[in-house]
Amino acid sequence: MKILAMFSSPRGTHSNSTFLLETILKEAEKNGHTVNRLDLVPLDIKPCTGCRVCWSNEEKACIIDDDYHIVAEAIQDADYIFMATPLYYWWVSATLKLVLDRSYPPPFEKFAGKTMHMVITGEEPPENQCFVGIKDGFTAMCKYLGTEFKYFYTVADPFEKPAQNNEKAIEEAKAIGAAL
Ligand SMILES: Cc1cc2nc3c(=O)[nH]c(=O)nc-3n(C[C@H](O)[C@H](O)[C@H](O)COP(=O)(O)O)c2cc1C
Repeated sequence: MKILAMFSSPRGTHSNSTFLLETILKEAEKNGHTVNRLDLVPLDIKPCTGCRVCWSNEEKACIIDDDYHIVAEAIQDADYIFMATPLYYWWVSATLKLVLDRSYPPPFEKFAGKTMHMVITGEEPPENQCFVGIKDGFTAMCKYLGTEFKYFYTVADPFEKPAQNNEKAIEEAKAIGAAL
């Protein structure tokens, strides 16, 4: 299976979400899956301007000439797409949102038939409702897109309790990768 792994935390090598997705990927690679890793943060991805040219041109391509086209090709080439994101203001990182907005044009085929697996870290426990926006929003969105949606949410405080010290989360991440 061809896996695309997109990372979107600005915290680089210290990132909780990056660490957990890497833990998953290492197990997936042991099972023979190929992984294309894409750090979205250094890419030049401009915001969607809502011009809607992509709605009417035949290739459904975006006319903005920037690094989004690298991402679009990688999405097209993948069977299974991981997205690692810190929980930012009840939602995904701004960097990941840029990619999602640029992937919008109908018939929304970019993610159809694929699995979208979100790896999220936030500081609030799930019962505080911080993560409900992503969970419910992406569940509804993926149903509409014809995309299977999976998620892995972990509480991780970069200073008090980083994911790198969370044995339970590491075991859960390994199990996700090993099951692929
Ligand atoms: C701008 C900003 C917004 C945040 N918003 C939330 C939030 O809404 N809910 C939450 O639980 N944590 C929030 N956090 C905490 C991060 O989600 C948390 O530290 C996460 O583990 C960071 O992941 P990373 O190390 O992969 O960047 C926020 C942090 C920042 C810097």
